[in-house]
Amino acid sequence: MVVCHNIPQVKSIISTHKSNIKSVGLVPTMGALHDGHISLLRAAKESCDIVVVSIFVNYLQFNEQADFVNYPVDLDSDIRILEDEKCDIAFIPDTAHIYSESPVLKLNFQHLEETMEGKFRPGHFSGVGIIMAKLLNILDLDTIFLGQKDLQQVAVIRKLIADLAFDSNLVVVPTFREPDGLASSSRNKRLSAEERSVASNFHKALILGRELLIAGELPLKVCKRVESFIEAIDGINLQYFEIVDSHSLRSKSAINPNDNTSLCIAGYVGEIRLLDNINLNDH
Ligand code: PAF
Repeated sequence: MVVCHNIPQVKSIISTHKSNIKSVGLVPTMGALHDGHISLLRAAKESCDIVVVSIFVNYLQFNEQADFVNYPVDLDSDIRILEDEKCDIAFIPDTAHIYSESPVLKLNFQHLEETMEGKFRPGHFSGVGIIMAKLLNILDLDTIFLGQKDLQQVAVIRKLIADLAFDSNLVVVPTFREPDGLASSSRNKRLSAEERSVASNFHKALILGRELLIAGELPLKVCKRVESFIEAIDGINLQYFEIVDSHSLRSKSAINPNDNTSLCIAGYVGEIRLLDNINLNDH
């Protein structure tokens, strides 16, 4: 595995691969790699000749300075994981390389960024869009691999690729889950043992919602039932439960079996904010 810390070096390595007609895939990350990232990397390895994993804690997408400063960083462990998984290129640029000047650009994804996460994390998706546009420009990628867990991020990046005509495909990889259903996340490590067992109720709530929809309940009623289920559990502070179209993220008032519908949830367990979603048809 080659570890690249600067842009000219990574560009030159990728351009050599491209001239040898190799396909290049990217798994973008902010480090603190876990099983969810590994499943993205494995999916990338299955369909691309060369896999790049980027590790960059993008300050533009943090709403709170404290969250940015406390973001877990463990590069030695990340590099070990990437080597074990036979990643080809680890791209680990410094902030000064990526943002030699602080960007003045702001991206506005309208409803895609205003709904759900947007209500709690203003400006977050502009920051995600800017770093992804930079990576897409720098790395000359055939495919990028994103986790379904961040459904709203996927919708935003899909729109970014379409609006700016980036010549890259987007592959969405199913969420990697612990045996009790909890979605893998770097934040899980910060849950106490008690919080960790409470956290599995996020997935239970999603499954309950899906069963009710399949049984023919209307979305509004399902939202109320799921909210009551969560409210009855000590230790969860629910921020939202929504039933939306998976691409437009518009709320659904009725379900058509041919639609692509997702159930999305976010909230706090103690001090830790968790989010998750499932697709109505994945079961
Ligand atoms: O999902 C993440 O880790 C980040 O939002 C991403 C896509 C790497 C952009 O910084």
